[in-house]
Amino acid sequence: MKFFLDTADLAEIEEACSWGVVAGVTTNPTLYARIGGKLADFNDHIRRICALVDGPVSAEATGAERADIIAQGRELAALAANVTVKVPTTIEGLAATKVLAAEGIDTNLTLCFSVPQALLAARAGARYISPFVGRFDDISEDGISQLDDVVSALENYDFGHPVEVIAASIRSANHVTQAALIGADIATVPFGVLKKLVSHPLTDRGLESFAADWQKVVNA
Ligand code: G3P
Repeated sequence: MKFFLDTADLAEIEEACSWGVVAGVTTNPTLYARIGGKLADFNDHIRRICALVDGPVSAEATGAERADIIAQGRELAALAANVTVKVPTTIEGLAATKVLAAEGIDTNLTLCFSVPQALLAARAGARYISPFVGRFDDISEDGISQLDDVVSALENYDFGHPVEVIAASIRSANHVTQAALIGADIATVPFGVLKKLVSHPLTDRGLESFAADWQKVVNA
């Protein structure tokens, strides 16, 4: 499983990229608003992220109608070679995906919550499909089991083009573990979760005992 970083924060992206684990970045309007982003700077900000990341960067088209999504998608794709256009999993989003895919523009179908939505996204030409996990948990449903169903269903078919599943709305290390066991191609994780993934109390305890024993060696 590959790791994408789910953020619009340049410092987080730079830091996580330095760990050698970031294969891409996903952003959305909420994440851009969270860093105090302004509309006038949006395109430049996406360009800056694309320059930092050696991999696809999802930038969201905010229009609801297909004509707007297509126009925004073309504009976003022109910003950098590694832009992927994030498109909502709706009828208008499917129609826009068909047009953008035919033009060679990669799309990431977001806000996907069901197997039928994922199958339709793949048929329309989506390069990436993002089933949301945490938002099912928010309504006391099992987001991991929904992700499992999407991955299993897509594996049954050849869509004639590459399709990768991005486990999204990831809130915990357990979500990441479960997504990997299911075989999701990618997990997009917030920086805070990514930091937690590398931590383990036994690693810390092991380091403490090595340091104490090494001091004995030094003092001997
Ligand atoms: O990648 C989608 C993600 O940003 C949504 O996460 O936590 O807002 O459900 P969340």
